[in-house]
Amino acid sequence: MILTMASDHGGFAMKTFLKEKLERSGYTVFDFGTNSDESVDYPDMIHPLASAINKGEFKRGIILCGSGNGAQMTANKYPNVRAGLCWDVLQAELIRRHNDANVLSLPGRFISMEEAWKITEIFLNTSFDGGRHLTRVNKINRLI
Ligand code: RB5
Repeated sequence: MILTMASDHGGFAMKTFLKEKLERSGYTVFDFGTNSDESVDYPDMIHPLASAINKGEFKRGIILCGSGNGAQMTANKYPNVRAGLCWDVLQAELIRRHNDANVLSLPGRFISMEEAWKITEIFLNTSFDGGRHLTRVNKINRLI
């Protein structure tokens, strides 16, 4: 599976850690940056990733910033992106089972590397439940 990742400086160390683990596990990772811990603006990396997911160029993405919030807010501007912010494995299970999330947002400054890896594994290996949750997901983009 080809995955895509993006972060700002607040998520750079965690992105690097997860990318290595994913590649060792057999994933191919397309990395939209950033490539150092020098301060950058998270939308500059997150918009290109979210745009690519939105166009169907990648099925799954992992985004990171210090809190995970700015990255998630940016990604969710795109109609075909459902990005969920996760700080534990139950959140990761639920964004897949209930929300069919295609993007995982992680808070690089708030959780351990080990917790981030567990969350990532759950995100990648949990299926959408469908049923009543599909009805709800289909309503997400219905503006009133
Ligand atoms: C950068 O200092 C920080 O604001 C950013 O990583 C993120 O937490 C924003 O939501």
